[in-house]
Amino acid sequence: MTFRLTLTVNGQPRAIELDDPRVTLLDLLRERLGLTGSKKGCDRGQCGACTVLVDGRRVNSCLALALSLDGADVLTIEGLAHSLAPGEPLHPVQAAFIEHDGFQCGFCTPGQIMSAVGLIHEGRAGDDPERVREGMSGNLCRCGAYIGITQAVLDAQARMAGPGQGGAA
Ligand code: FES
Ligand code: FES
Repeated sequence: MTFRLTLTVNGQPRAIELDDPRVTLLDLLRERLGLTGSKKGCDRGQCGACTVLVDGRRVNSCLALALSLDGADVLTIEGLAHSLAPGEPLHPVQAAFIEHDGFQCGFCTPGQIMSAVGLIHEGRAGDDPERVREGMSGNLCRCGAYIGITQAVLDAQARMAGPGQGGAA
């Protein structure tokens, strides 16, 4: 049996056929669409390495069944910079992670960045490091780069709140 769905992935419409209704969004992205930026850390909703935006909201893609998302708009780390403007090299959150050393090995980083973008758009980041830490608590970093991550989110949210900055994901 074939299951069909359509998604917009990083701005591109995709018509997808699945032979198994249990395929997760993460496996669809990584194994069928070649988008390996979203990482599989735990595959059970505990680490946040697989975070993407679905219709602008943060989602652990390892927990989301692809078929349940028919018609959704999915943004992954691969499409993040271009979501602001075609040819844009870096999203402000990506730039801030580089400037503040918000990573070491980098495995958690795509999920951290997508989660930070979601948090900023939720309007819950503010300028309070404690609120940022709480808002990012679903994203674990085994390297312990939390100080840089928090600084990066604070910096990016301040930049994106400025006039003419990229408010859209
Ligand atoms: S891989 Fe999805 S939360 Fe860990
Ligand atoms: S940078 Fe290594 S797990 Fe976060």
